[in-house]
Amino acid sequence: MRLPGDRRFAAAVRRLDRFIYDLIAARRAECRERGDLLSVLIQARDENGMPMSDRQLRDEIMTLFLAGHETTANALSWTCFLLAQHGEAEEKLSTELERELAGDGRMSAISLS
Ligand code: HEM
Repeated sequence: MRLPGDRRFAAAVRRLDRFIYDLIAARRAECRERGDLLSVLIQARDENGMPMSDRQLRDEIMTLFLAGHETTANALSWTCFLLAQHGEAEEKLSTELERELAGDGRMSAISLS
């Protein structure tokens, strides 16, 4: 039996798939070499000289997308949580950010408190 959660999950996978397949199609259509990971994967050949299919590329990108997204989001969430509990560390980080990013326009978007 399909539950509402299953439908939401399937819809989310379709949405991600569309995003990634569009990315692959756009990159395939481009003639210019970007030197990034997707270009490397598109140009890769196996021992028989065969390139990856769109499905294989999608699987590689999806793995990197999810592995990179969830871990980084978790690490940042726990960092913020711990900083909020340790005022002296938060103060030290704030000082370092102000020092290192002084004059950088993006600094105004960063606020720890
Ligand atoms: C704070 C950030 C991250 C943490 C804590 C983290 C942690 C880990 C750990 C512990 C593993 C080993 C899992 C295992 O073998 O049991 C792993 C594997 C992996 N991570 Fe990360 N990761 C982070 C960021 C990223 C990012 C940004 C990417 C890609 C953009 C990424 C892609 C991968 C991939 C593809 C593997 C599997 C490697 C393999 O064995 O073939 N990770 N990560």
